[in-house]
Amino acid sequence: MNERTRTADHASASPEAPRGQGGNVSAVPEVIPGAGPAARPGGRDTVRPRDEPGRDAEEPARYAPEWLRLREPADADARAGTLVEAVRDRFAGRTDGVVVHDLGCGTGSMGRWLAPRLDGAQHWVLHDRDPYLLHFAAAGAPDAAADGAPLSVETRRGDLARLTPDDLAGGHLVTASALLDVLTRAELDTLAAACAGADCPALLTLSVAGRVEFTPADPLDAELADAFNTHQRRGGLLGPDAVTAACEAFAAQGMTVRLHPSPWRLGAGHAALAAQWLRGWVGAAVEQRPELAARAEPYLARRLAACAAGELEAVVHHSDLLALPPAVDGLR
Ligand SMILES: C[S@@+](CC[C@H](N)C(=O)[O-])C[C@H]1O[C@@H](n2cnc3c(N)ncnc32)[C@H](O)[C@@H]1O
Repeated sequence: MNERTRTADHASASPEAPRGQGGNVSAVPEVIPGAGPAARPGGRDTVRPRDEPGRDAEEPARYAPEWLRLREPADADARAGTLVEAVRDRFAGRTDGVVVHDLGCGTGSMGRWLAPRLDGAQHWVLHDRDPYLLHFAAAGAPDAAADGAPLSVETRRGDLARLTPDDLAGGHLVTASALLDVLTRAELDTLAAACAGADCPALLTLSVAGRVEFTPADPLDAELADAFNTHQRRGGLLGPDAVTAACEAFAAQGMTVRLHPSPWRLGAGHAALAAQWLRGWVGAAVEQRPELAARAEPYLARRLAACAAGELEAVVHHSDLLALPPAVDGLR
């Protein structure tokens, strides 16, 4: 996948889209410029692309490192440790180190979380289509494994729509975080086929599940959630269907899939993240259903006030997935 030209047309906003431009909720200030992906040309998006002079309008969505940084602690708390145990068991006894391919690495949060949980030497291959994020990922990579063994990294710029088994050849693990819901079914099938073809397990974390629980609840919660989920599917993206689709895609490749919940539990200690996420969530919902705007604006104001006062709790459901190739004599 090295330095290939991008051909896939990526579209629409995602749960990564804390920039409310839908309906009247855009009046809310203090959003992160470029947080979340932008829609493809001609599409309507909830977020704007980063303001980069010379940026080609045909380029796919880009993500703001500020947003990825903001969500990193909540992501770290949410990922399912129990699936990592399964990976550790699989690697137990290896003395020659492992190669990990992190797909859609962004600024590298998955590596910062996982590498210190695995023993032994590691070489991380960081894949993304965005060279700006790859730069941050390489610069911010950890330098040691759990047991102090060395860790090295390389970056590969390319489009996952073109991933092949050869790209993963020699790899021992594929990882991703907050990726599957921003892929199309075709891209997901390509990813699963590449993992299976390379006989490589895949730990794919933090796919949105399409469910949110607020405390206190509000009568508008369900309607907004519904509109948001519909928005996530724009442009053929998987959105809340990602986990089901991934189970099907990996099973079709003969891989065994394990799932584990990995919800964000946002409370008083996450005011900044919760506020950004809320703006994006409501903004996307209103963009999907503009008739919600009149009720959504006071809803958002109420929710943000509660958030600032430390009186809002939100459980944003995600799932982690571990896909394992068929065992050969119990081992790879
Ligand atoms: C929501 S961000 C998650 C980043 C990172 N994994 C994290 O958890 O912070 C999704 C990442 O996937 C990348 N991405 C999305 N679709 C891609 C594709 N088709 N090819 C390569 N990278 C892609 C984006 O550039 C972005 O860095």
